[in-house]
Amino acid sequence: MDSFELNKILGALLGTCLIVLVTSFAAQAVFTPRPLEKPGFEIAVKEETKGGGPAEAAASSEPIEKLLQTASVEKGSAAAKKCAACHTFEKGGPNRVGPNLFGIVGEARGEGRGFNFSAAMKAKGGTWTFDDLNKFLTNPKGFIPGTAMGFAGIPKDSERADVIAYLNSLSDHPQPLPTAQK
Ligand code: HEC
Repeated sequence: MDSFELNKILGALLGTCLIVLVTSFAAQAVFTPRPLEKPGFEIAVKEETKGGGPAEAAASSEPIEKLLQTASVEKGSAAAKKCAACHTFEKGGPNRVGPNLFGIVGEARGEGRGFNFSAAMKAKGGTWTFDDLNKFLTNPKGFIPGTAMGFAGIPKDSERADVIAYLNSLSDHPQPLPTAQK
């Protein structure tokens, strides 16, 4: 094989390499995905409450005064079982993870009860009105960010009102339930 033939072979090899390189560049330029400006499709899901028709959805904006009119202390006592892991309800009952809740309606928030309340609860101040209890029990961490009460809340309006009516009954001086027409 003379050097001329060797040159031809090397030339062919080099040429092939060049073509492969150029095609790969070209392919990259063509096929590199451009980032989309906005998502190709949007997922729009209508929020539905559990078992919820429009009637129930509307009910969630009911004021507590209205809800308490149909609340049941008996049902509230049953529903409050889910609080009993952390709270006692009877007069002079011991504190558990949370404070004893006897006579809580109308009482100062985060005070007394021989309980070591969180800084967030103490800082909130004020007293436990029906309205505050309603907000707190809907979403404890929403009403008092940083509260030590590790409880998700009671999403159902009627159940929450039952529990609040029950809490109110646990007192030496239960408060008159508020009425819708003030
Ligand atoms: C996982 C335990 C836990 C559960 C379940 C729980 N709580 Fe609590 N609760 C706490 C703790 C802890 C605190 C004190 C919060 C703080 O200091 O931030 C508290 C505080 C409270 C307070 C404020 C007391 C005060 O003196 O200011 C109320 C009212 C209350 N809980 C009601 C309820 C009700 C009603 C339920 C059931 C629907 C419930 N909690 C379920 C742990 C719990």
